[in-house]
Amino acid sequence: MSELSVLSVAAEAYPLIKTGGLADVVGALPGALEAEGIAVRTLLPGYPAVMAELKDAVPVHSFAQLHGGAARLLSGRAAGLDLFVLDAPHLYVRAGGPYGGPQGEWPDNALRFAALAWVAAAIGHGQVSGYVPEVIQAHDWHAGLVPAYLHYAGRAHPRPRTVLTIHNLAYQGHFPRDMLATLGLPPHAFAQVGVESYGGIGFLKAGIALADHITTVSPTYAAEILTDEGSMGLGDVLNRRSGVLTGILNGIDDVSWNPATDVQLAARFSSLNPARRAPNKAALQAQFALDRDPGALLVGVVSRLTWQKGMDLLLDALPELLRGGAQLAMLGSGDAHLERGFTAAAQKHPGRVGARVGYDEGLAHRVQGGADAILVPSRFEPCGLTQLAALRYGAVPVVSRVGGLNDSVVDADEANIAAGTATGVQFAPVTREQLEVALARTLSLWRNPWQWERLQARGMATDVGWSQSAARYAKLFRDLVGTPAVQGGGRV
Ligand code: ADP
Ligand code: GLC
Repeated sequence: MSELSVLSVAAEAYPLIKTGGLADVVGALPGALEAEGIAVRTLLPGYPAVMAELKDAVPVHSFAQLHGGAARLLSGRAAGLDLFVLDAPHLYVRAGGPYGGPQGEWPDNALRFAALAWVAAAIGHGQVSGYVPEVIQAHDWHAGLVPAYLHYAGRAHPRPRTVLTIHNLAYQGHFPRDMLATLGLPPHAFAQVGVESYGGIGFLKAGIALADHITTVSPTYAAEILTDEGSMGLGDVLNRRSGVLTGILNGIDDVSWNPATDVQLAARFSSLNPARRAPNKAALQAQFALDRDPGALLVGVVSRLTWQKGMDLLLDALPELLRGGAQLAMLGSGDAHLERGFTAAAQKHPGRVGARVGYDEGLAHRVQGGADAILVPSRFEPCGLTQLAALRYGAVPVVSRVGGLNDSVVDADEANIAAGTATGVQFAPVTREQLEVALARTLSLWRNPWQWERLQARGMATDVGWSQSAARYAKLFRDLVGTPAVQGGGRV
């Protein structure tokens, strides 16, 4: 099998810059694809955090004028990734996150990510000497214009095949129509099979309309986004393109998420000796100021605090959880009212509820390694990574039956328990009532230690790594390269 070259284009990559699971996937997939004979280079914005880590940087191209300033494309390595970094200080050097600062979203986000896509397209057109990718994988709305720039360059320019990977349809990158020319798009791009979306310009919509192939991060989410409820307003274009839409379940990086070697844990353990988790539970109870009670079911949460994640439902269901004798350790940040809600709950129930508002990678590992169960009550979840880590770390996932949660957790119903295949608890629909039922079921499973250990053991035996899904991506990329490029998703 010959090596196939893929350029991955994204706004974040773990461990360089991360706000969520997108970074985990962009950071881990290249290593897994390497084993499949796919050579991935990753194009990232030159945020300070990325520039600081970049080794052996070599300028490979320069742009005299890129949306308000000069820019350079650097080639180098960082965090085990082969990188292209777009060094454009006027766009990316700011005190704040990748998408915004203390005042909210950066007002020029359209330009910041259009620049990234523009440069990806330039690489695709062979403007960096010695490197032409055969496939460009564009992640989420930030890279959604890559297929558009390649398409509108016209047939005279040979181009790589394009894959748009949707991690979350809720973020679409929607901007005013009058930016069309500024973004370097021709007037005829403002079309249904083009960048037009609800009277404005939709970056994600453009990618969906114009990429050769579309993937999303679980098979169930691939089906959900074709429905009225799940399509978030993009049902028409998604259904037109459903013939080239594939769901591939995410994995987790099994080196950084390995309980046998995890330096963040008080005690290391594996599926061979899950009982050695016990000191981690005691440490977590201490860290969250919870009663030191080995017999209490300790429920953990590691999450962005947003509507998507159903965290308001957890606040509503908290009395029920506590009535059953359980404890809660919540690590998360996001919407202010939810942050306040969990902080207040911790004050109201000392010893029973602990809340850490913030983002803490090490603590996330300790919650996974110390909690008995991990709760993910999402209203929608394209894939979800915390339930995958939970399976590996012997924390039983309690999840809503949506998206990737449906595809990665096997519900402890009677049949699955009898067959020995159950790994967690699922509930549907996503309501306070059903969450309470799920918590009650979890408590009754917990009270039967033999059954709980079977659930835990089966979960720990689940393959949550990248190898199977990397093989699926590799096949998709090879199939695409074997087929002629269809200009602008002409099959729609
Ligand atoms: P999403 O990307 O929608 O937030 P995922 O489950 O795909 O959800 O990925 C979330 C990632 O972010 C996981 O790696 C999880 O461990 C991490 N994470 C979420 N919140 C926190 C937090 N407060 N502190 C540390 N890590 C967090
Ligand atoms: C998004 C989704 C999440 C998914 C992650 C990585 O952030 O919300 O479900 O796991 O992307 O694909």
